[in-house]
Amino acid sequence: MIPYGKQDIIQADIDAVVAVLKSDFLTQGPQVPAFEKALINATGANYALAVNSATSALHIACLALELGAGDILWTTPITFVASANCGLYCGAEVDFVDIDPATYNLCPQALRLKLIEAKKQNRLPKVLVAVHLCGQPCDMKAIHALAVEYGFKVIEDASHAIGGRYLDSPIGSCEFSDITVFSFHPVKIVTTAEGGATLTNDETLANKMALYRSHGITRDKSLMENTPHGSWYYEQIDLGFNYRMTELQAALGVSQIARLEAFVATRHRLASRYYEKLNDLPITLPYQLPNSYSGLHLFVIRLDLSRISKTHKGVFDELRANGIGVNLHYIPVHLQPYYQRMGFKLGDFPYAESYYTNAISLPMFHGMTDEQQDEVIRKLTDIVMSK
Ligand SMILES: Cc1ncc(COP(=O)(O)O)c(C=O)c1O
Repeated sequence: MIPYGKQDIIQADIDAVVAVLKSDFLTQGPQVPAFEKALINATGANYALAVNSATSALHIACLALELGAGDILWTTPITFVASANCGLYCGAEVDFVDIDPATYNLCPQALRLKLIEAKKQNRLPKVLVAVHLCGQPCDMKAIHALAVEYGFKVIEDASHAIGGRYLDSPIGSCEFSDITVFSFHPVKIVTTAEGGATLTNDETLANKMALYRSHGITRDKSLMENTPHGSWYYEQIDLGFNYRMTELQAALGVSQIARLEAFVATRHRLASRYYEKLNDLPITLPYQLPNSYSGLHLFVIRLDLSRISKTHKGVFDELRANGIGVNLHYIPVHLQPYYQRMGFKLGDFPYAESYYTNAISLPMFHGMTDEQQDEVIRKLTDIVMSK
């Protein structure tokens, strides 16, 4: 099976991890700060905190923005559930803004209309999670302008987007947001096995997230309530978690991020071949914004089912049966049973639901050979063109 995504591990990655295994620190050593420095260098953000997943990163980002009971978080329905669940972890309510049918990202016009209504009802969101689906940045300038006008905070869920650029800035620079989150799951652009990070330009937010990452414990005397009892002394000053990244993961991250540009460039090369060779099929190829450089985590096509004699599921299943490991990103979050129990239902977000009826993610990963890609192209062509 040609997978839809896969990590690319070279000897330098293995050597970096083995060196940690032979070192004094498996956790809480020098590799995590080194990885954080590499993330700062790659993005231009002032602060980076490595954590054990993007899910944890989203959670502590929401906590740092003081999201809690009685507050509301908005995000897009076309995302992984974690972009919404982080609001629920904090006791907040979650709601969604429909997608732009061209980019599949949260639609800024729909956002504006929903904000106007929410203001009338005194139900404005406190936090918006803007997800850069497939690596393509959201319209952050428009979102930022609305954040200023309506007074909400913005988290960029850039789990798909490290190595990309929005206008003149690397994704993660937080130029138009309060916090950006990355994921380093193996299918993503850069991997640490499991892992994630939060980035911000705000020192207060960075300090809060550092506390939440590690039990709410500090060794900083200036933050303590009591005079230290001795050099062993630490204080728990808030309720935090163990969301720390290990040294093994961080060393892998440092090694991987050295190839960030190459990883994204390969994805662009593979995408160009898809654009060229799939152009005549009854499918919609992903629209790429002219003012940005996508991280291209995913390559999502949409079937024109009026011109194909098979169903969405039929095409998907036939591709899988032919060894093409396609996937579907994502089932609209509001249609998950857990969210439907909160009152969401089919019909709430029509563009997201329509996307779900015909979207398919094609295989795309750094180590993909031209032969593998040609196989995907050939099989897809046969399947959508045959009766
Ligand atoms: C958009 C998005 N947000 C959040 C996550 C959660 O990432 P992690 O698996 O690192 O917790 C993912 C992972 O698939 C994702 O795609």
